[in-house]
Amino acid sequence: MADVRVWPARKFVGSPNVPGDKSISHRGLIFGALANGRTVISHLLESEDVQSTARVLTNLGVTIKKEDGKTIVEGRGPEAFRQPASILDCGNSGTTMRLMMGVMAGVPQLQCEMTGDASLVKRPMKRVAAPLQLMGAQFELRNGDFAPLKVSGRNLKAIDYELKIASAQIKTAIMLAAISAAGTTRISGEIHSRDHTERLLNHFGVKVSSNSKEVLVTGGQKFTPNNLNVPGDPSTAAFWLAGAALVENSNLELKNISLNPTRTGFIKVLERMGVIIETEVTETIPEPVGNIRIRSGKLRGVTVAEAEVPSLIDELPMLAVLATQAHGKTVVTGAEELRVKETDRIEAVAKNLRAMGAKIETTPDGFIIEGPQKLKGARIDSFHDHRIAMAFSIAALVADGENVIHGSECVGISYPEFFTILAELTQ
Ligand code: S3P
Repeated sequence: MADVRVWPARKFVGSPNVPGDKSISHRGLIFGALANGRTVISHLLESEDVQSTARVLTNLGVTIKKEDGKTIVEGRGPEAFRQPASILDCGNSGTTMRLMMGVMAGVPQLQCEMTGDASLVKRPMKRVAAPLQLMGAQFELRNGDFAPLKVSGRNLKAIDYELKIASAQIKTAIMLAAISAAGTTRISGEIHSRDHTERLLNHFGVKVSSNSKEVLVTGGQKFTPNNLNVPGDPSTAAFWLAGAALVENSNLELKNISLNPTRTGFIKVLERMGVIIETEVTETIPEPVGNIRIRSGKLRGVTVAEAEVPSLIDELPMLAVLATQAHGKTVVTGAEELRVKETDRIEAVAKNLRAMGAKIETTPDGFIIEGPQKLKGARIDSFHDHRIAMAFSIAALVADGENVIHGSECVGISYPEFFTILAELTQ
């Protein structure tokens, strides 16, 4: 397990290129594979999670290759998917497993097994299988909820489904199954999670109608190949924004970042904390994209409640670190989903903050942190979770003394160059 040492910074400045958005990269590969023809993807995220999606699609017979730095998907539609020779390994990637469950549920010629690494086989999958079973899909889950799992493709029928968890992965799995189902599927309830699937399905020629109350998808539609330029990932940008917000005399400019309103929760929270941050939207179709500028400043505590949580779910570990340096109380509620991510992120944050000498009160669905508090250098455990490793590397910039990030190699899940860029930005 690789240890990386991180020391306090005097300044955090630069204009790093932020790698492609992970959610959009997964969808670009999958939608390209479902279309009949050639899709060219620029700025695809090159990381282990996205490679997991590429590997699963390749095992189903899809050709994916690199040409001149771009990713080419030679799709032939789901009808051409072939029976994989072995179990489909989704690695650490919940998005790969859940989205592909939705795809494969409706491909009648397929009978597949899916698994993942030690973390993924502990994450709940019934939440995806249950609505798909209502559509007629056939699943066998280990202990009724987990991978390894088996899926046998079926001819599906549309459903009217009220989503109880604000999860884009569940919503997307139902939408993808709905495209091959007879009739119009309606999803209502907690549908306000990230809307990349809604936007990108339209980009790939599949009509989806959505408003604040429902998402409607009519079955029998075909995907049309289309080129895609993946914007920078706002959840990755969040680490650099936090570094600039925390370290005195810092400023940073990030270009070509997704400014999709379902993903900008962290920017809004930084503003409420008193950070000077400017955004400029430069493109809107198929996804809002733009530039962000930020300067360090005095931080104040903030309240984040359930309605806002999906728009910054992956940034909450980073927010916890910021909260230790903010004046006043930070309270996060309605974020129980943090407990079923790559690790239990509420416990992982609490253990590492306590190792750094900070106080945090955890609750079943969030945490309370009173600041400002001094952080001391410590041995940090990544818990094999990329976002924990990165959040605590940023915490190290304002700690007192040396920090050792244990299990640092997990940053490869979403940002293999993280430590190289961290060194470049730190002065
Ligand atoms: C993702 C959705 C989120 C997020 C994950 C990627 C996606 O999960 O945490 O990193 O690409 O749809 P949930 O929507 O299931 O909470």
